Amino acid sequence: MKTKQRKRAAARFLPGLPLLAAVFFFSCGRPAQMPEPTAFADAPMQWSALTGDAARGKVAAKRYCIGCHVVDGEGHALSSAPSFAFSMQQPHINPDYLRHWLWNPPAVKPETVMPNLSLEAEEIEDLLAFLRNFRTEPVQGETVEPAAERAVPPAR
Ligand code: HEC
Repeated sequence: MKTKQRKRAAARFLPGLPLLAAVFFFSCGRPAQMPEPTAFADAPMQWSALTGDAARGKVAAKRYCIGCHVVDGEGHALSSAPSFAFSMQQPHINPDYLRHWLWNPPAVKPETVMPNLSLEAEEIEDLLAFLRNFRTEPVQGETVEPAAERAVPPAR
């Protein structure tokens, strides 16, 4: 093959690379049966008791989420991906749910488009602290009914 031809072949192939990379990246996610981090068992169930760092969470969100969600005015706003402001007002959203969602969305909702992003437990805590800022409900409404074995006193 002449150099010119080779270059042309490469030019045809290159635009497909990001897609290939994305497919490779997402198919390498952890399997659905991967056990959840033990850290989840002791993690706070209440918004007011979260220990993550919201600033670090924002950095993580800009790194991992803007492919589909808008973060700080940046991102793609995939039509099926809700805004954080919307999601954080939904009644099913609480810290425990979000941890499991961010750990492995398809394990929570098998048909979802949101992939397993292979986040670390610490990154998830930071993201929770960041996402908490989108909540508009008063603190009184924030208490999640804890499972009996993980009962925690209500936040004041
Ligand atoms: C590849 C696209 C994609 C990426 C990347 C992505 N999401 Fe999503 N996300 C979605 C879609 C699509 C939905 C709607 C899920 C559904 O209902 O099936 C969603 C839903 C959500 C929800 C609502 C879940 C619920 O049950 O109501 C939250 C919260 C969320 N994403 C947070 C994040 C965060 C935080 C990140 C980054 C760490 C992220 N997403 C990365 C596509 C994505």
